[in-house]
Amino acid sequence: MPRKPKPEEQKWCIDPETGEPKIDKGAKNLCLDKSTICFIDGFHSKLYYRGYSIQDLAEHSTFEEVAYLLWYGELPTRRQLEDFKGYLREERDIPSQVVDLIRRIPRDTHPMEALRTLVSYLGNFDPGRHDLSRDSMYRKAVRLTAKLPTIVASYYRIRRGLEPVPPDYTMSHAGNFLYMIHGEKPPASWERAMDVSLILYAEHEMNASAFTTVVIASTLADYYSAIVGGIGALRGPLHGAANEMAVRQFMEIGSPDRVDEWYERYILTKQRRVMGAGHRVYKSYDPRAAIFREYARKFAEEKGGEVKKLYEIASRLEQRVMTELCETRGICTNVDYWSGIVYYAMGIPIDLFTPIFAIARVAGWTAHILEYIANNKIVRPRLYYDGELDKKYIPLDERKE
Ligand code: COA
Repeated sequence: MPRKPKPEEQKWCIDPETGEPKIDKGAKNLCLDKSTICFIDGFHSKLYYRGYSIQDLAEHSTFEEVAYLLWYGELPTRRQLEDFKGYLREERDIPSQVVDLIRRIPRDTHPMEALRTLVSYLGNFDPGRHDLSRDSMYRKAVRLTAKLPTIVASYYRIRRGLEPVPPDYTMSHAGNFLYMIHGEKPPASWERAMDVSLILYAEHEMNASAFTTVVIASTLADYYSAIVGGIGALRGPLHGAANEMAVRQFMEIGSPDRVDEWYERYILTKQRRVMGAGHRVYKSYDPRAAIFREYARKFAEEKGGEVKKLYEIASRLEQRVMTELCETRGICTNVDYWSGIVYYAMGIPIDLFTPIFAIARVAGWTAHILEYIANNKIVRPRLYYDGELDKKYIPLDERKE
């Protein structure tokens, strides 16, 4: 007779006090490991990378310095930073075979899906891809961090029928990315805005994509496989694609005086979620959102027109979120709420917003992979089996349609 397993047959899932299954859906309370990379105080709007506050890093640092900090644990000296920037610059080119593949990707492929395909392909050109030594891991991390902007910008241009712009080896990581997108050197204010955005997106503890990279790396698979997995997880609208969805939502609303009607129709009735709001960890304002909001405000003032309109829609909607969702339920606007307006103001197409997140987040993914596999344990949680056992096998011919 079919039967259900007894609690003692899966005691790892049973709460000893109640005798009931103890399920942690969404791994809300899973503390995977000790770490020294990132600390989020979600109740007091605080975020630290290696102990440094996000405000200080956004004000004084650069993406290159932050990547170094995340990987090596310390801020670099001037000389270490110059060397590090040099390594990154030398690695900006991508193999011609990757450019050939970009030309063959169907034009309606979302840039995140193109990026996933291209990073996977790029791995095949790295002779050291199976080398799991730390030196090799750092080398691959530099290589991939340097090449992601080139891949994203090349796909963007080829898809529009333009030729890719080769990287400029004299420019910063952020400035060169904008240059490869637009084909001209960006104003200093744009370069800084992009740089700050990369800092803000570089790392965020054990989020869904970082977890994915760590799970893959914990099997001792290669670095490229782990990063491809991270890109796949980041693609979802509940994670990285929220920055794209947030701007699409402001566009759909269309004007500040339609915010209330939209909010009442979709949010009050719980038909939809505000994209760029809510967070598993933050139950107060996301400190990164405050920094992005200030950049969005400056761009709105400077550029007017559509950027100003999007800013005004976002501001009005945020007021409602803050008073009706944040104060009472801890659902506050997050990093993805404002970032898209900043990118939009710099002439970046909406479907490149999540790839930019990936360009930055590869720094954090790498830091977590390096930290986790230094003392590796394959990630392998359990499930509570709620089905039947000992069922009688019925041969195919005897089964009823
Ligand atoms: N708008 C409206 N309501 C929201 C919301 C949002 N953006 N985010 C969460 N909620 C509500 C849910 O509907 C749920 O309500 P209920 O208890 O009445 O069913 C409650 O808050 C808890 O949501 P839940 O999905 O369980 O929280 P979570 O911690 O698992 O999810 C997110 C976190 C980020 C996935 C979620 O807030 C979300 O979907 N946000 C929108 C997408 C987004 O901006 N993602 C980027 C995150 S940086």
